[in-house]
Amino acid sequence: MISITSIQQLFTPAFTVDIQKVKSNAKNMIERCQTLGVQLRPHMKTHKTLECADIMTGGSRRCIAVSTLAEARFYADNGFDDILYAYPLPLDKVGACAELAECLEMFHVLVDNEVAVTELKKRRLQVEKSWLVWLKLDCNNGRAGVQPEDTMALKLAKSIADSEGMELVGVYAHCGNSYEATNVKEIQAVAQETTRATLKFVEKLEKAGVRCPRSSIGSTPSCSHPVSNMGCLNEVHPGNYIFYDVQQLMIGSCQMDDIAVRVLTRVIGHYPHRNQLLIDCGWTGLSLHSLGKLPTGYALVEGHPELKLVGMTQEHGKIEPSSGKLDFEKFPLGSLLSLIPYHACATAAMHPVYYVHSDGRIITEWKPTRGW
Ligand SMILES: Cc1ncc(COP(=O)(O)O)c(C=O)c1O
Repeated sequence: MISITSIQQLFTPAFTVDIQKVKSNAKNMIERCQTLGVQLRPHMKTHKTLECADIMTGGSRRCIAVSTLAEARFYADNGFDDILYAYPLPLDKVGACAELAECLEMFHVLVDNEVAVTELKKRRLQVEKSWLVWLKLDCNNGRAGVQPEDTMALKLAKSIADSEGMELVGVYAHCGNSYEATNVKEIQAVAQETTRATLKFVEKLEKAGVRCPRSSIGSTPSCSHPVSNMGCLNEVHPGNYIFYDVQQLMIGSCQMDDIAVRVLTRVIGHYPHRNQLLIDCGWTGLSLHSLGKLPTGYALVEGHPELKLVGMTQEHGKIEPSSGKLDFEKFPLGSLLSLIPYHACATAAMHPVYYVHSDGRIITEWKPTRGW
């Protein structure tokens, strides 16, 4: 057990997690899904820890989505089941996926091309199991997936459903385009459109006699402000909501009070000739993900809206005031600052340990899995 009990004693940069906020974010999402009547399949990519997964699944350790084989193995090794590897099946990992599928009750893979289906056919599962396959749809997100209106989509769905040793379990669309929204109305328009396109495709499958029992969409913005039509789906798969962040705040997904994570950093230098402070957090402690989208630079400095994190190198960050002269006496060397990350998934990925606190007292440490 750790001996540090107060946040102020932590070596910096340190990634901290407010357990009350995590629990409240989890509870709100569970209740939202219950109200909608859809199964929540929380995504683990944001935190990649066992503890948070327990909170998100309400302790069931069932029905999760992951984005790496490392996560899939980590959760499988620790008693989780009904795991969807929600990433276009990488061909180098088919053998490893087969091992997981053979030892878990339900291990699902996701495909968006015929080559992957052929590879799955070549590696038949033992113990009389079928591959549980999801078809990835691209409903205007523009990353992975087949477009539902493309004739290829129906062809691929049929090919999965008709293949021996394979079952078409569902269709999966990630509405990452909800991050282009600037308010709740725009988020809901994306949620509506993704739901409509997904359900229309499911209808097409039904008409063609292709069995496909499940349909899932989701992102944190769309699941934080769901539209009623989403109740016609079977599942949603958001992940970031467990921490939330400044990006979510900016597009209207969450309130400031919902953001559960911070990066603590200390002032390590004063440079009056350039009106700047130096802090001990560079991009290895925060990530560069905001790409300068914030008026306050790469993060928000909690309690100091007048400050701007203007630049970072590997282990250094530069802070200056948005305007005027910096009052250096307010920020003595060694003083703590708290950064609210722009993208919690990217920031969490930088840290091997999360310091979990309740009211400023450290209660435990969480160790995420890493790698691919
Ligand atoms: C394929 C996929 N599914 C689900 C999610 C979870 O979405 P969010 O991070 O908005 O909660 C992501 C996030 O990037 C994703 O890439």
